Amino acid sequence: MSEPVQLPIKRGCPFDPPEQYKQLRQECPVSPLAMPVSLDGRDGWLVTRLEDAKTVLVDQRFSHRKELISLPIPPPLPMGEGEYKPGAAEPGAFITMDPPDHSRYRRMLAGHFTVRRIRELEPVVERIAARLLDEMAAAGPVADLVTAYAEPLPVELMCELVGIKPEHREPLAKHLAVVSKMSYTVEEITEAVITLSSVLQTVVSEAVANPGDDMLGSLARTGELDEKELINITWALLGGGFDTSGNMLALGTWALLEHPEQLARLRAEPELTDNAIEELLRYLTVSHLGASRAALEDVELGGKLIEAGQTIVVSLPSANRDPEKFPEPDSLDLGRSTQGHVAFGHGVHQCLGQHLARLTLRVGYRALFDRFPTLRLAVPAEEIPTREDMLHYGVHQLPVTWD
Ligand code: HEM
Repeated sequence: MSEPVQLPIKRGCPFDPPEQYKQLRQECPVSPLAMPVSLDGRDGWLVTRLEDAKTVLVDQRFSHRKELISLPIPPPLPMGEGEYKPGAAEPGAFITMDPPDHSRYRRMLAGHFTVRRIRELEPVVERIAARLLDEMAAAGPVADLVTAYAEPLPVELMCELVGIKPEHREPLAKHLAVVSKMSYTVEEITEAVITLSSVLQTVVSEAVANPGDDMLGSLARTGELDEKELINITWALLGGGFDTSGNMLALGTWALLEHPEQLARLRAEPELTDNAIEELLRYLTVSHLGASRAALEDVELGGKLIEAGQTIVVSLPSANRDPEKFPEPDSLDLGRSTQGHVAFGHGVHQCLGQHLARLTLRVGYRALFDRFPTLRLAVPAEEIPTREDMLHYGVHQLPVTWD
């Protein structure tokens, strides 16, 4: 296996990462990786084992600064030779910063995402879920679970939490969905970026002028962040929160319907719910493209020399199927020990919204299966379109019925 691996690799089964990862984990866990868009012409590396994945994600010698990271998958728009020259993160765009710049923003946000603060939102999630399910029931008995429930639930929740008025939600959701694609036209992306920038400018200007009792209002009131920073922080939060939980909701529902014995177990043992969600997160790992970093200096890993400047991609789906940590990793077992999975990443960039995501999934699955005990697919499984073409994996549609 000396030829560099090429991403993306096609899946065989909708719930499993590509088969090739098994062989890579066994034979070449730190493998050369083709970089079709390379900042310096060099290939990079792909990490497929859990332990190596965690090592990379906590090691500060690996940077998340986007201006240093080459691309293992060609960008959505064609570009000429040598044209990929990403700029440094704008103020507030903390996801692609390293400490200490990253830490400053992360500290300001952390208090809004603690377990305690998020637990207070449970009635809000219940209210939104109940309303969406009422609407779905009224329009049924066939519905696309994605558009009726899985997509709008996290969008409405995030907007309430951050403080985005109803009239701004639809354009934000529509255009953030374009940014999440792995291919788009120049017209589509131009319209999306212009609309997102202008809606977020309006949202932030209003929050600064008249800070409300929400996250944006509270950040504005500190007086420590200018409008540009607030816009980029909001963009990062919505980008992280709109697409991910929704994909877990829809894909997780499908996985449960395809594993009726596991669904029956979940119904019979509700105390299993928290663990079941961790297992679904591990098993499905919707961040299917993994986490990319750039080596700031030469680092040895798994017997390979990662040279300074090279990009290293951590495959989170592969790490979460590592049999060294998870026996029989390819089976969905809601009662297994899931401790140590990396569905939310690891290290300083570990998902800021993870408690919010857990709450959304806990309330979201429970409300759905309580409301529709006979829920089942309305089309053959082979007809369900999967999201291999998007930055986050899931399903484009999930037609369900319950009569
Ligand atoms: C099931 C749902 C979710 C999954 C699977 C998920 C997954 C991830 C992963 C894997 C990372 C780390 C990426 C890396 O290290 O390169 C991450 C980071 C992040 N996520 Fe999530 N996420 C979810 C939900 C959310 C939600 C609801 C929010 C809302 C605030 C959110 C906001 C963020 C942010 C802001 C970061 C960047 C953190 C940083 O760089 O410090 N995520 N997420």
